[in-house]
Amino acid sequence: MTDLRAFAWPAAPIRTERLVLRASEARDRAAAIELNASPEVNAYLGGPRPRAELERGMPEVPGQRPGFFVIEVGGSAIGTLMLDPHAERPGHIRPDVARTELGYLFLPQAWGHGYATEACAAALDWFAGACPGEAVVLRTQSANKRSMRLAARLGFTEVERYEDFGAEQWFGVWTSAPSPA
Ligand SMILES: CC(C)(COP(=O)(O)OP(=O)(O)OC[C@H]1O[C@@H](n2cnc3c(N)ncnc32)[C@H](O)[C@@H]1OP(=O)(O)O)[C@@H](O)C(=O)NCCC(=O)NCCS
Repeated sequence: MTDLRAFAWPAAPIRTERLVLRASEARDRAAAIELNASPEVNAYLGGPRPRAELERGMPEVPGQRPGFFVIEVGGSAIGTLMLDPHAERPGHIRPDVARTELGYLFLPQAWGHGYATEACAAALDWFAGACPGEAVVLRTQSANKRSMRLAARLGFTEVERYEDFGAEQWFGVWTSAPSPA
């Protein structure tokens, strides 16, 4: 099994038709604070965090770890996307299903343009090359309709639903198609 954490980071930026996926830099700090302070972004993620607390605690370069991508359109950061070790995330975990988990946060003004689908598909494609045959899991509240539609578009399939944090959670898995022989 290949582990994402063993990879040299930052990886080279990934370019799609409209986006750049790249490792985090100091200039992304403001967007990282905005993403965590936004009531809309955090509506299904336990609520926003106080901006003053984020201003104090956010590292100079946020999210410096393998699998953490900043998504840029036209030179501006519009969101972040994470491929993280599933077992290190809090809550309901299923190491028997996969070792890596996908997460995503986009600024509300960037919703409804297909950017999240484009970015996540490119990141999953990159992951399939880096860790061939490895599955990826995704957890999201089933009430989070945008996230549920995104999961379906990306090809995640339901493993189970369960209750956590007072709400129904959806647990899905994605596996890259085997490369043709
Ligand atoms: C979840 C989230 C990333 C989804 O964002 P999104 O904008 O709905 O998803 P996409 O970027 O893929 O955009 C898809 C929408 O853009 C529309 N669209 C417009 N132009 C498009 C284009 N050129 N190409 C593709 N889709 C386009 C699609 O029709 C689709 O709309 P629909 O869902 O109403 O049918 C976003 O809502 C978010 O960041 N939420 C907060 C964080 C969160 O809840 N994360 C989940 C926990 S991991």
